[in-house]
Amino acid sequence: MLKTIEVTANFISEQIKDQAEIGIILGSGLGGLVNEIEISAKIPYNEIPNFPVSTVEGHNGTLIFGTLGGKKVLAMQGRFHFYEGYTMKEVTFPVRVMKKLGIEHLLVSNATGGLNPDYNIGDLMIINDHINMFPEHPLHGKNIEELGPRFPDMSQVYTKELRHKARLIALKNNIDVKEGVYVGVQGPTFETPAEYKMFRILGGDVVGMSTVPEVIVARHMGMKIFGISIVTDSGVPGEIVEISHEEVQEVAMKSEPKMTLIMKNLIAEI
Ligand code: HPA
Repeated sequence: MLKTIEVTANFISEQIKDQAEIGIILGSGLGGLVNEIEISAKIPYNEIPNFPVSTVEGHNGTLIFGTLGGKKVLAMQGRFHFYEGYTMKEVTFPVRVMKKLGIEHLLVSNATGGLNPDYNIGDLMIINDHINMFPEHPLHGKNIEELGPRFPDMSQVYTKELRHKARLIALKNNIDVKEGVYVGVQGPTFETPAEYKMFRILGGDVVGMSTVPEVIVARHMGMKIFGISIVTDSGVPGEIVEISHEEVQEVAMKSEPKMTLIMKNLIAEI
């Protein structure tokens, strides 16, 4: 595992010829932030040794390196989902590589179903905590001490200062932003009304099929994390309608500029 991480990190390092400072993982329909990056290197996932290749429509598989908000960023345009058939080790491998490259900050975005009745479709939510409902844990198995502790603390997963900064940026730019709990599920089915209800009772504000594995692995290695969700559909009783992946992407793309603005300004302040 350590050797594999090193091989991949060395490959990326040679391609980008620079020190990356911030890692970004962009959710489906949320790749627009890339247009703001002054790009100096673009590496398709299928050219990166040991990288899995993304299969889902609308999930571009490209690693992008460049400057954003005055910082050197390494952005994953498209992530690996557990539902695609990857193991948890594969899903989280790029985060291991980011850390090996010297990246200490991880910013993630995702599309979600809203559980909190105060949320509307198109809303942004800063993630302040998560509930892991995945059936397999990314740290399952022998712990590699060089990467992090056997029993990582999870009391402060989403860095308080970053959340605070993001809220101020939103306020300054007249962007309404919520803050709440992300429930991570395996998918690929969207929830039944009874499941949405259950996740709300459990304490969730939104539900989605990603993020939690990558974030756990990032915390395992002591990285600082900022996560933001876009509410693309409603899981609130009485508001639930039939949805599709295309509709989720469409709503995500509409709210994307607000998210991009927050991310870009936050990066400048890190
Ligand atoms: N549930 C799970 N994942 C999602 C949803 C949802 O309603 N919307 C977007 N991703």
